[in-house]
Amino acid sequence: MTKNILEVDGLVQYFDRSRPFLERILTRARDMRVHAVNRVTFDVKEGEVFSLVGESGCGKSTTARTIVRLIDPKEGRIIFEGQDIAGLDQRQLLPFRPRIQMIFQNPYASLDPRQKVGEMIMEPLLFHGIAANRKEANARMIELLDMIGLHPEQAGRYPHQFSGGQRQRLGIARALATSPRFVVADEPVSALDVSVQAQVLNLMMDLRERLGLTCLFIAHDLSVVRHISDRVAIMYLGFIVEQGNRDDIFDAPLHPYTEALLAAAPSLEKRFIHVPLFGDVPSPLNLPTGCAFASRCPRRIGRCRDERPQLRESGGRRVACHLV
Ligand SMILES: Nc1ncnc2c1ncn2[C@@H]1O[C@H](COP(=O)(O)OP(=O)(O)OP(=O)(O)O)[C@@H](O)[C@H]1O
Ligand code: SF4
Ligand SMILES: [Mg+2]
Repeated sequence: MTKNILEVDGLVQYFDRSRPFLERILTRARDMRVHAVNRVTFDVKEGEVFSLVGESGCGKSTTARTIVRLIDPKEGRIIFEGQDIAGLDQRQLLPFRPRIQMIFQNPYASLDPRQKVGEMIMEPLLFHGIAANRKEANARMIELLDMIGLHPEQAGRYPHQFSGGQRQRLGIARALATSPRFVVADEPVSALDVSVQAQVLNLMMDLRERLGLTCLFIAHDLSVVRHISDRVAIMYLGFIVEQGNRDDIFDAPLHPYTEALLAAAPSLEKRFIHVPLFGDVPSPLNLPTGCAFASRCPRRIGRCRDERPQLRESGGRRVACHLV
């Protein structure tokens, strides 16, 4: 059986936002809490592409940023290669940093505009002692530029001198510089022009296969998710509502939200009953006591508003719905 490289268990993340001074005085209301990630549990097997899917604001990026420990988790365990990294401080995390890397959503904001791209790729190699000296780091940097289809002479340029697609290639090179085992790709092509999205995605998937990487992939585009994933988790209002093998999820979704999400995707061939997705996602400030999807669910029954369904095993997948 394939080993788990990552196990996320009961992960909780929230943000406290203070109310404006006058509102606090007049309403005596307490500060607000944005419940972004609610007891999220899943595992990623070595070598697979595991995709996290859901509408905007459902907590995908926050989950990703918490897993790579860019933000501290409030609760839960993040077991990477057998060790719980949830409670480690920045110094204790240092040995893990080269092995878990992240490719960010926005290649325009994620590269330092004042740093030449060659230096940017060499920096983690020197910092983590992966390259013994600048000469070795330089050789590895040129190898990485070649891998992403750029020339060595472009190493002396700044990020603004590259196109969006090239910048995201540079983001990929920087993430791969330390030879990670696990890469979290947060909507890596969504900020790019449609004409270059496929190129960058293909490059990423080629490199993934060549280097034997495991990937946690976050995306909006369900046709892409269907194309590249081994397993998929569907997220709604910070909860995972369904998780399973790619074909099970796409061919026979069990959770009403998964059905609605797939039915709403214009690019997918529909093999299931059409469930319309109406209304808005509830506010993450006040989580419903019952099922998170109850306000929009066409199949809602009496207990749905009061009792939150737990994520349970059902025929090789996990589903959180009272009807399943
Ligand atoms: N630093 C922060 N401070 C306060 N609230 C935040 C912060 N980061 C995220 N949030 C809130 O947490 C919730 C989840 O946001 P997140 O960015 O994780 O969603 P997402 O699924 O990645 O959305 P998108 O698909 O638009 O990228 C949102 O309600 C968002 O406003
Ligand atoms: S638990 Fe109820 S409201 Fe929630 S998805 Fe299932 S049927 Fe719909
Ligand atoms: Mg996001």
